[in-house]
Amino acid sequence: MPTPREERAPLPGSPAESTAARPLVDAAHPSSARVYDYLLGGKDNFATDRTAAARIAEAFPSIRVGAQENRRFLLRGVRYLAAEAGIRQFLDVGTGIPTSPNVHEVAQEVTPGARIAYVDNDPIVLVHARALLVSDPLGQVGYLDADIREPRSIVDSDLVRRILDFDEPIALILSAILHFIPDEQRPAEIVRTFVDALPPGSHVLASHVTAEHEPALRSASAGYRDDGVRTQPRTAREFERLVFTDQALELVRPGVVLVSQWRRDPGEPPAPTPAQVSAYGGLAKLS
Ligand SMILES: C[S@@+](CC[C@H](N)C(=O)[O-])C[C@H]1O[C@@H](n2cnc3c(N)ncnc32)[C@H](O)[C@@H]1O
Repeated sequence: MPTPREERAPLPGSPAESTAARPLVDAAHPSSARVYDYLLGGKDNFATDRTAAARIAEAFPSIRVGAQENRRFLLRGVRYLAAEAGIRQFLDVGTGIPTSPNVHEVAQEVTPGARIAYVDNDPIVLVHARALLVSDPLGQVGYLDADIREPRSIVDSDLVRRILDFDEPIALILSAILHFIPDEQRPAEIVRTFVDALPPGSHVLASHVTAEHEPALRSASAGYRDDGVRTQPRTAREFERLVFTDQALELVRPGVVLVSQWRRDPGEPPAPTPAQVSAYGGLAKLS
């Protein structure tokens, strides 16, 4: 399993405080970060990523709609956390390639002093960390190159501890990452380790791909797996059990729903169909 790279020598001129040896961006195989970037209309992807996206789209043509709806959910959730829940600290695991607005931009628009620790294990995200690190001068943003499958190494890392005060509420963000952790890699234990580290008043925001409304998504996921990206769609019940099972977590209204249905703004275009979206989201408060 990859190890976090925080303690190794920094890249010359690297924007990230936590880095490893020069990141090896593997252009020969698709990466979930670059495929997602492509689906969102970004330019930080290679032919292999576009081919993988095309393969998914053959089985699940609305994949792009689903990605966009997930991103909208994430940003609505962060706005809720900053504006309504009063959260000033964010731990975003599985950050993705920077896509403006990013989590820190939305949070700091509401609360300029907000502090955000970003975490991802894809070298391409590390390469773009500079774009993530443009914080409001009143706040702070940092990037940690680490693997969610080693949660303790994230919550105990010097970088995360420098940015986040674990005596004050923190929003843990697990947006569109847990379907990359199949059951045999014990995602529930990973989530529990994060939640156990959070103080009362913290929140957990998560989203997850599902095949419940579009069975073809199973074959799309299988194709993605053949391309080297392990994925496991889950039902609403499985997702809820995976993330929000802790007795101390209370789901914020409307609970676990399609990401498109979670506190959709009246100004947004009408929601696509459940099959087109095929992702659940939820947000809970820790008592
Ligand atoms: C689909 S993108 C989601 C990006 C962003 N969270 C969002 O919802 O818009 C998934 C991200 O999770 C990251 N990821 C996948 N597996 C990971 C792991 N084991 N550890 C850390 N990050 C991981 C990928 O590199 C990618 O950037």
